Amino acid sequence: MTMLDFHAQVQAQLPEVEERMRRVADGYHPELGYALEQLLNSGGKRVRPTVTLLVAGMLNAPHQHAVTVAAAVEMLHTATLVHDDLIDGATLRRGEPTLNALWNSAATILAGDFLFSQAAWLGSQAESVEVMQMFAKTLSIIVNGEVNQIFTRNMFPTREEYNQRIYAKTASMFELAAKAPAHLAGVYPQYGELLNTYGNSIGMAFQVVDDVLDFTSDEATLGKPVASDLRHGLFTLPTLYYLDGKPEDERVQVLLNGGVLEEERMEALIEDIRSSGALQQANEEAHRYVRLALDSLQSLPACAERDGLAELAEYVVQRLH
Ligand code: IPE
Ligand code: IPE
Ligand code: MG
Ligand code: MG
Repeated sequence: MTMLDFHAQVQAQLPEVEERMRRVADGYHPELGYALEQLLNSGGKRVRPTVTLLVAGMLNAPHQHAVTVAAAVEMLHTATLVHDDLIDGATLRRGEPTLNALWNSAATILAGDFLFSQAAWLGSQAESVEVMQMFAKTLSIIVNGEVNQIFTRNMFPTREEYNQRIYAKTASMFELAAKAPAHLAGVYPQYGELLNTYGNSIGMAFQVVDDVLDFTSDEATLGKPVASDLRHGLFTLPTLYYLDGKPEDERVQVLLNGGVLEEERMEALIEDIRSSGALQQANEEAHRYVRLALDSLQSLPACAERDGLAELAEYVVQRLH
């Protein structure tokens, strides 16, 4: 596969970001350093810091601060994954055992806390109160969303509730990644709104795609088990579309009542959702978000980084093919 231009544009800077992230464990308990090293070495697409670096390049933000904020955003993402996997009881991520599969809950919670604190510390190094405010706000939105998800498990969301959920868990962080560099460059009043739309739209698309891939992909590609959302009583966009056409499906009713389907019935339901056209409808939704993202770029400064951001928006939905 040839390297996409947007990957090439940040290829030289991402190692600087990784280096900033690695160094935050210096001087702390070696197990924290070990955990961080494992997380960084296990892969991850680094989509969020890529967004930050491209926007920073487009706006000529100071390089060191851009690297710092990119590292802070990815650290925040990593911290949320550590706690999320514990909450979800997930044992595999990025094809590797999760921290909670290796450590007890207490140690996993504390390792997550350490990453949260170091994300905040990194963020503070950019010396922008506005950036710090955004970080705090984003984290509160994510936590609120996770709490909401816990208390609404096995409840069928409206489209509005689904949108709020994926905004909280995914799009909010993409907004942060896209908007923060505008503060570093001192151009937030001109471009903040457009960057918010860009970040929001690719974030929403990213999560819709993630929800589709949960139905279509395989464990080797995803690095985590497939069809796990439905199995965990989490109704995502494909299931919402499926139910539009089959509102009376008994198996979904069982899940809605907190019941468990035998493996055979669960597999049949997953297969019916796959073949119902619901995935196609969800794909179209993701493409609509990508078009919004591309539109928002039109009024931002034309440059190679802007082209990179457009390509990145397309890449989000290309993961489907
Ligand atoms: C995983 O995000 C969590 C979601 C919001 C779906 P990514 O798919 O960006 O995870 P990594 O960092 O590449 O592993
Ligand atoms: C993870 O959400 C994202 C956050 C907690 C911010 P999910 O639980 O839905 O995603 P995966 O499937 O574990 O990546
Ligand atoms: Mg979760
Ligand atoms: Mg999870």
